[in-house]
Amino acid sequence: MSALLEVQGLGKHFGGVRAVHDMAFEVGAGEILGLIGPNGSGKSTTLSLLMGVTRADRGSIRCLGRDISRWPIHRIANHGVAMVFQHSRPLKRQTTLENIKLALLKDSILDVFPKPALDQRARALAAKVGLTDVIDEPAERLAFAHLRRMEFAKALALEPQVLLLDEPFAGLAPAEVREFIGFTESLRDQGLAIILVDHNVKAVSGLVDRIVAMYLGEKIAEGVPQEVIGNARVREVFLGSSADHAEPSSADRSARTELKSGLQSDPAENKVLEIKIEALRYGKAQALEQVHLDIAAGEFVSVVGLNGAGKTSLFNAISGFTSYDGDIHWLGNSLRGRSPARISRDGIAHCPENRELFTYMSVQENLQLGGYRRSADERASSLEQLFDLFPRLAERRRQSAHTLSGGEQQMLTIARALMQRPQLLILDEPTLGLAPLIMDAISETLEKLRRELGLTILLGEQNVHFALRHSDHMLLLENGTLRWQGNVQAFHDEIGDSYL
Ligand SMILES: Nc1ncnc2c1ncn2[C@@H]1O[C@H](COP(=O)(O)OP(=O)(O)OP(=O)(O)O)[C@@H](O)[C@H]1O
Ligand SMILES: [Mg+2]
Repeated sequence: MSALLEVQGLGKHFGGVRAVHDMAFEVGAGEILGLIGPNGSGKSTTLSLLMGVTRADRGSIRCLGRDISRWPIHRIANHGVAMVFQHSRPLKRQTTLENIKLALLKDSILDVFPKPALDQRARALAAKVGLTDVIDEPAERLAFAHLRRMEFAKALALEPQVLLLDEPFAGLAPAEVREFIGFTESLRDQGLAIILVDHNVKAVSGLVDRIVAMYLGEKIAEGVPQEVIGNARVREVFLGSSADHAEPSSADRSARTELKSGLQSDPAENKVLEIKIEALRYGKAQALEQVHLDIAAGEFVSVVGLNGAGKTSLFNAISGFTSYDGDIHWLGNSLRGRSPARISRDGIAHCPENRELFTYMSVQENLQLGGYRRSADERASSLEQLFDLFPRLAERRRQSAHTLSGGEQQMLTIARALMQRPQLLILDEPTLGLAPLIMDAISETLEKLRRELGLTILLGEQNVHFALRHSDHMLLLENGTLRWQGNVQAFHDEIGDSYL
């Protein structure tokens, strides 16, 4: 097999950070190469170097017979390379169709005039990735999974021969992942060379033909999935000591039982949050209907459901970002009409799905802002605790947030919310983009905060295993209504199969 893409001696530093060092690999037509590694190991940087978004310090990138390592991004795109970025950045006010059309324009001034053919091609692409239903919606209204689909459509618009996918499945529910996997396989069968970045080895092992594993910017293993997964060094840096993260350990379980017996978690007796949403609409679209639910002090409640089921809308209603019909009471007082700032002062912290970091501020500044209402002493001690919890953030404390890797940004979002010392913590997809070891660290912290401070937690998750590991109570949202609720055992018994 001849390689479409061949990389040798690739290197990139950012100041003192060695993001990529001496990377080498190749990908052939009709092949999927998996690029795996823990958070901050240099995966996204490698793809940016290939795409020309970032310029390499050294090394060569040969693509379809040419060395493209010094080429600008548009030339690389025209040469047949396209990328689905880790973060979706659509033009928010433009519709799905307009966003896709824009990607179809080549670099010719004549292309700004409307052409029926362009419209047809954009519609065909939208249909291919399952966006027909939302084709006239402005991008700012699209659910997360839709935005991921749109990124796919935009990349395919370039008719690439080499396709770079940076965590294309992150934040998707299992059924959506299966669909995307089928889609990626069909692209491989059409002869594309594909590089797929992910840190869920198990998820990608069935899909990829070969894997390159990275750690601290370097290649630590390469081979077919079974070889790489079995590699001792990979297991050590990547999976940590425990190889299987799906099931809670017995220690976890007993800690949880102990925790529960120490809490009064009967919602009827000890409720802190009382949700009675009759309806939540965006224009004509109804996002939530009749969501009635009580949460007790110290309880851990998880909301699961497909993307677009209404999880984020529910959280936004509680935090005061969206208006709704009905009422929500927190500690006996109505939150209706209160500003988000006031609600946050009243003890509710929200970790949004899209992170909303202050991107041009440093890690430390983001954290300081999270705790701005607390005394300087309290802030300093929380800061140290959080840096212990996330050593990666401590190392990066002066780095500006927008240059952090995906997983590092997620850590910062969670840490910033914890700086606030909330009574209720709303976590919208906190595990998105996180490697297993970091997820474990977050798990431990959440358990600790509940034990020591009686923190109440409301979690929205696609990662049902993570939700099950912690929850007292599970809710299933479907098309904006509460389809089911019950405890973890009942979830296993009654819902399990379709969701796990
Ligand atoms: N512009 C920059 N300035 C400073 N450091 C940077 C910059 N860009 C990336 N880095 C650092 O380089 C390292 C590699 O980042 P990269 O985004 O490639 O990681 P990744 O493997 O994609 O991680 P994740 O799985 O979390 O997305 C990170 O530690 C990141 O903080
Ligand atoms: Mg990344």
